[in-house]
Amino acid sequence: MDKLRILFAASEVVPFAKSGGLADVAGALPKALRALGHDIRIVMPRYYIVDREKYALKLMEGALGVPMGAMGEIWAGVYEGLLPGTDVSVYFIDHEGFFGRGGLYEENGFSYLDNDTRFIFFSRAVMQLAKKLHFHPDVIHANDWHTATIPLMLNIHYPYDSDFAYTGSLLTIHNLQHQGHFHKGAMDVLDIGWDHFNANEVEECDGINLLKGGIVHADAISTVSRKYAQEIRTSEFGWGMENLINNYSFKLHGILNGVDYEEWSPAVDPFIAQTFDLDSMEGKAVCKKALQNTFGLPERDDVPLIGLVGRLAEQKGIELIVHAIHALMHMEIQIVLLGAGEKWAEYFFSDIAGRYPDKFRCYIGYRNDLAHQIEAGSDLFLMPSLFEPCGLNQIYSLRYGTLPIVRATGGLDDTIENYHNDSNHGTGFKFYDATPNALINTVGWAVHTWYNDREGFKQMQHNAMESRFDWYHAAKEYEALYYQIKAGRRGE
Ligand code: ADP
Ligand code: GLC
Repeated sequence: MDKLRILFAASEVVPFAKSGGLADVAGALPKALRALGHDIRIVMPRYYIVDREKYALKLMEGALGVPMGAMGEIWAGVYEGLLPGTDVSVYFIDHEGFFGRGGLYEENGFSYLDNDTRFIFFSRAVMQLAKKLHFHPDVIHANDWHTATIPLMLNIHYPYDSDFAYTGSLLTIHNLQHQGHFHKGAMDVLDIGWDHFNANEVEECDGINLLKGGIVHADAISTVSRKYAQEIRTSEFGWGMENLINNYSFKLHGILNGVDYEEWSPAVDPFIAQTFDLDSMEGKAVCKKALQNTFGLPERDDVPLIGLVGRLAEQKGIELIVHAIHALMHMEIQIVLLGAGEKWAEYFFSDIAGRYPDKFRCYIGYRNDLAHQIEAGSDLFLMPSLFEPCGLNQIYSLRYGTLPIVRATGGLDDTIENYHNDSNHGTGFKFYDATPNALINTVGWAVHTWYNDREGFKQMQHNAMESRFDWYHAAKEYEALYYQIKAGRRGE
């Protein structure tokens, strides 16, 4: 088979800028596709936090003209660099007014009011960059609402453009909750013509829904686990899009994310107190002690330590934890939480730390080193999400022998095998109902296992650390899908 030319567009990419799992995927999947021999290039915005010196980014010659409908043509600069440790080119769309700001999408909890213009601009710049480079992609891979207009632009703005002859598109939905709903005024900069402002394309409740346009126009759509690909077809998880998604189920795929084990492995992790692995687990006890010390908890090896890392958002089940917390604090356990997000939750958890200082500690903010230390030093990892397209932290936890306690939804259900009392199977503890009681009971069950069935717990740690969710297999699935898209565009 011919090698593919893939243009990968994402609003955040590790290590340049990250707010969540999308960045992990955007930094790791292209690496794995490159290893399969494909010519893959990444495009992202040049935010203020992107460190141009550290990554030796170079300004490309010549500005990029980006047609923005009623706003006219807006000019962008383009920086070029490499994804560290690879020869994958990364292009950064540079526009001081749109991207030279403190945050990626928001500041102090308030979304930027011009996010529609910012990401329509970015998406159109991706198209214009492909032309400038004469890259002739076989597939443009868009991710989430930020770049969801690319498939639409491809079909509507560039149908006869020789730079895109035979170019197809894939839209990956990492999170259906965020769809890019905006005032219909955005139609004027999207510039696709008001005949496309209809309920079967981009219109919703007299506003514009950018993700919807992508779902309709992409050659294929995918989500980041098989279970979530099924769930989004139901009213419980569809956020109002279930009917549309059902109409397009023929082009819907579920491909589970992988994990970059070069970054997330206790045997090589530079952030943790002592490295460890299956045949040398002493380091894990050292990491637990160090974690207790860092968070100011009593350094005890006779209580189970439960870790939590994630955005403090409704999706992550924080309300279940809020309602369960006092009951949990009656158990002989310790909890460390690392997270930022909803202000009320940040205050709530800080207050709990004040009430139960020997049992509960938190760090409100974003700290990659602490995330690694929590994965390494905890015995259990709690992730009670209401919905979870894939979820990465539970997979990292497995590698560190930190058994996940999860709600059985989306990727959490696909990646965690439930504990069986009577056998040596299982990699974690699952609950089904999104209720505080189910959470409390399952934490109780995990804690009871830690105290009373040490052998069973160790066996589960063994199972967890042996399981693998590598990017190679995920990349092979994307590759097959890209070939299918390419063949479709060529009418083969
Ligand atoms: P989502 O993308 O929905 O936030 P994922 O589990 O896919 O959830 O990915 C979250 C990623 O962000 C993980 O790599 C996790 O370690 C990281 N992360 C989330 N919150 C924080 C934080 N406060 N500090 C450091 N890393 C964080
Ligand atoms: C989203 C989802 C998360 C997923 C990540 C990467 O942010 O919330 O479940 O792991 O994208 O695909």
